[in-house]
Amino acid sequence: MRTKMLAGNWKMNNGGAATKDFITNLENWFSKDPVGKKSAAAVSSKAIEVVVAPPFTSIESACSAKQTDIIQIAAQNVYHKPKGAFTGEVSLPMLEEAGCKYAIIGHSERRHVFGESNEDLEKKLIATLESRVLPIFCVGELLEERESGNMKKVLDTQLESAWRSLTSDVVADMVVIAYEPVWAIGTGQTASDDDAEDACDYIRTLAYEKFGVTSSDSLRILYGGSVKPENSASLLAQRDIDGLLIGGASLDADSFEKIIASAL
Ligand code: 13P
Repeated sequence: MRTKMLAGNWKMNNGGAATKDFITNLENWFSKDPVGKKSAAAVSSKAIEVVVAPPFTSIESACSAKQTDIIQIAAQNVYHKPKGAFTGEVSLPMLEEAGCKYAIIGHSERRHVFGESNEDLEKKLIATLESRVLPIFCVGELLEERESGNMKKVLDTQLESAWRSLTSDVVADMVVIAYEPVWAIGTGQTASDDDAEDACDYIRTLAYEKFGVTSSDSLRILYGGSVKPENSASLLAQRDIDGLLIGGASLDADSFEKIIASAL
């Protein structure tokens, strides 16, 4: 059974103080609220995993606010070099030291707002897999690519370069893929359950063809794009969707808790 991941990507929101409050309140919910307690038990039994990705400057606050291991912390980006003259970048050893378990790589905003290429993201993925931080690697098509019937071609290209130097064992044990169609991100226009499942099923098929059945069965594939409490349960019920990458709705404690509870 694949552990379902509920991951909040805060993007450029929540400084240190707001992060500390959020993490403290969420841990209180896990320890006091009846649904929260059930969720904490689901984390202990590895049925679900809860991840929060604050901005870089709030990672330290998140890690020091945490009193338990119920919530895991992710970075929103990485640089592939360990240190040196790379102004503005943050390395994997720094993220490890700060306490990150995961790093999001290739989010659509990194690809389309900051111009990161498939080659850049391949380097980041390889460097992350050589560190103790685990990658959540994002893929997804633009609206015009979907409308012109090219969704699968885009996923082929994005995954081909990312996967070309990986082994079956690494894919089975260490990699999480997030399918985030760009047209669904921050637009309120969630992919239908069928469209989301169709893309996640396609990603698993590609993993099967390249790495075999053990890897494709173990690979966790998340959906992201306008996830909210009203649509999370039906997305999570899809065969090939193993979790959610949540933007706006993860900034509100109540809606993030409802989404976590919908995975129980
Ligand atoms: P929204 O949930 O705000 O659409 O953002 C999705 C996303 O980009 C998560 O990484």
